[in-house]
Amino acid sequence: MTEVEVRLMPAYKVYIGRGILDEAIGKICQKDCKVMVVTDSNVAPLHLARVVKAFDRAGYKVSTFSFEAGEASKTVETYLAVIEALRYRRFSRKDIVVALGGGVVGDIAGFAAATYMRGISVVQMPTTLLAMIDSSVGGKTGVDLAGGKNLLGAFHQPILVAADLDFLDTLPEAEWRCGIGEGIKYACLAGGELEKLLAEGIEPLERFVELCVSYKAQVVEQDQFEGGKRMLLNLGHTLGHALECASGYTVPHGVAVAKGVLIMARAALKAGELRRDELKKVEELERKYSFDLEGEDIDDLLEFARADKKADADEGINVVCMRGIGNCAVRRMSWAQFGEYVKA
Ligand SMILES: NC(=O)c1ccc[n+]([C@@H]2O[C@H](COP(=O)([O-])OP(=O)(O)OC[C@H]3O[C@@H](n4cnc5c(N)ncnc54)[C@H](O)[C@@H]3O)[C@@H](O)[C@H]2O)c1
Repeated sequence: MTEVEVRLMPAYKVYIGRGILDEAIGKICQKDCKVMVVTDSNVAPLHLARVVKAFDRAGYKVSTFSFEAGEASKTVETYLAVIEALRYRRFSRKDIVVALGGGVVGDIAGFAAATYMRGISVVQMPTTLLAMIDSSVGGKTGVDLAGGKNLLGAFHQPILVAADLDFLDTLPEAEWRCGIGEGIKYACLAGGELEKLLAEGIEPLERFVELCVSYKAQVVEQDQFEGGKRMLLNLGHTLGHALECASGYTVPHGVAVAKGVLIMARAALKAGELRRDELKKVEELERKYSFDLEGEDIDDLLEFARADKKADADEGINVVCMRGIGNCAVRRMSWAQFGEYVKA
């Protein structure tokens, strides 16, 4: 079992490996208490029984809560239903919420834990590649409002993250690709071994997850509340998100991020900041995982991006620019400058 420490106050560990469930649960310091495992309708029939048994064996009083899978459930209503379940089961501050699922479950259960009785412990148990390498670490939790994604939320760090790679055995192909899209982002941010592993086919997977989590951990440690450095994690997200909106959400998030990263890499080449061989590496990564390398209608995407960020439309935006693989930086640009930067 691999351990990555996230050095915040308080610090917590991310445990990664195959079949690590019992060992990771054994590391939870809060004992003799209740846990409520929150999950979704896809994960429940596949993995919930195993998780319940593991907590049961470890001496916890276990209950479960499941909601309909999908982003459409990431609402205030689902969040309140989780809170009501905690209240009904008389959870107190010494008890624990467990988020068993992808980023949707992690965000909702994390937010419920952040706010119930002004905050109780949450254990993140990610079951998608995206949640293992990204959303389960760093403490961002929340739900969507009609006006936009993740508009209601809180920073609430987990007490522990258990990334059991066995969960991924049932992950559908499309969800793998979403994780790989975010993985390409990490490869561009961190470079080095992470980029090499992805180029060679993410074997061993445990090391790949470890490297992504370690990169995210060191960014979050320097900027817990996204005042600066943490914005790096948004590489490719401005135009990626615009692409998601433009497609009416038929292009999945991770696929859109992969395209957003590609556009930023091409823009960096044009700006003379990325070498041609580095762009080639990014393109090869994308080709290897069957992401499409076609250009996009940038004007169209810019319009969507601007509408999406209308609150600060006049003040400009923070742009994550590539200056090399493993060397990215956040720059403040006006929309006009951003438009010029990304247009070929
Ligand atoms: N908090 C953060 O820092 C952060 C970071 C990135 C993304 N997010 C959020 O994460 C969400 C996306 O996460 P996601 O891609 O994991 O989506 P998701 O949680 O919707 O999971 C994707 C699909 O896979 C299913 N699934 C999950 N695990 C499975 C398994 N092991 N086997 C079979 N099916 C499984 C789910 O039921 C769902 O249908 C978005 O809401 C996004 O806003 C949060």
